[in-house]
Amino acid sequence: MTEGVGKPAALPINAERLWHSHMDMARHGATSKGGVNRQALTQEDAAARELFMDWARNAGCTVQIDAVGNIFARRPGRYHNAPSVCTGSHLDTQPTGGKFDGAYGVLAGLEVVRALNDAAIETRRPIDIVAWTNEEGTRFAHSGSAAFAGLVELNRIYDCTDRAGTRFEDALTAIGAKGDLACGDRVFDSVFEAHIEQGPLLERDGLSVGIVTGARGQVRYDVSVTGMEGHAGTMPMDMRRDALTAAARLVVRMEEIGRRHPPQGVCTVGALTVAPNSRNTIPGSVRFSIDLRHPTSEGLASMAQAISDAVQEELARGRTAIELHVLDREEPIQFDDALVQLLRDSAAICGIPCRDIFSMAGHDSCYLASKQPTAMVFVPCRDGLSHNELESATASDLADGTRVLAAAMLARAERV
Ligand code: GLV
Ligand code: MN
Ligand code: MN
Repeated sequence: MTEGVGKPAALPINAERLWHSHMDMARHGATSKGGVNRQALTQEDAAARELFMDWARNAGCTVQIDAVGNIFARRPGRYHNAPSVCTGSHLDTQPTGGKFDGAYGVLAGLEVVRALNDAAIETRRPIDIVAWTNEEGTRFAHSGSAAFAGLVELNRIYDCTDRAGTRFEDALTAIGAKGDLACGDRVFDSVFEAHIEQGPLLERDGLSVGIVTGARGQVRYDVSVTGMEGHAGTMPMDMRRDALTAAARLVVRMEEIGRRHPPQGVCTVGALTVAPNSRNTIPGSVRFSIDLRHPTSEGLASMAQAISDAVQEELARGRTAIELHVLDREEPIQFDDALVQLLRDSAAICGIPCRDIFSMAGHDSCYLASKQPTAMVFVPCRDGLSHNELESATASDLADGTRVLAAAMLARAERV
């Protein structure tokens, strides 16, 4: 048993209620293929946020919102001023996202609170369920949890723009999501996050729960390649300065760099824009993203060096100008040893077999871990698919993950 922490106790979880909450939440931004498109600070996101706040208030929570739109739903404890036990995740999704990435962590937290109410349990410490703003980084580059953890300055997140040029702060204000609470102004005893695995290991092993020990390092870049626009018919091939051809060579190099760092080095170009994007004009400029991940600092550094080298080689051709801009860099992290052990103990108490697992996905918890003890629970998703409208999980696995989460939170919430 982990020292200084109450004993985890199993709490009855209502699997059906948890499942229906997911289905109801998934109506906001539902796509025709059964997925969800609920990008941050859109009308769909606003509706999802409202639904969560309604549910939380009905469960007896008081709701506060901070300056970047992070929503804190608090169930009071016997000691109002004691640092709370926090759980949560995000409600925003990818453009072709699913019903579970992010939503599960928020709704599992809500189910813990509802189950505590059913059992008439008053905890010593308050419990906070948090819906962190813009975890996906798909519409705006920086997330509310990173701002909360002090890793991104408020003005930097406010000034991020989406592809249409809308500023984060303006989008936040437009949906009425800019709150009064100062960003980062809350002290947690501990942070837990439940999430779907987004990979194939738990399903392969026939397990319903994974205890997450740590997460990948990641570097995100924006690249701009500038050539010269020209006539697609009259400009001879050897006189061209085609930005798209140069970008295409770099994109292929990124794939090679990922492949040269097995088994877990990965490198992705997920977004690319071409200007002027006209059939009969040689492309004058291209912008694209690079997402680079590795489980170790050394691997991350080696891949980052390979990216710089590839850019230098392309520059040496003398046909284009290239800017490689590092958006952010996160070193690999280990979650808090005591909380990880507490989650293992909780799984044992609940009679749920589990394994340790390492996350190659990014999560709100990766930022929060820099501020207070943090750990995560994973449940399987079908075929390991995520960031895909086909993303799927079972009611029974979602409930098992929530049982483990609840037992650990309860132990921590009774901690003196
Ligand atoms: C978050 O979804 C990530 O990119 O890992
Ligand atoms: Mn997520
Ligand atoms: Mn995601």
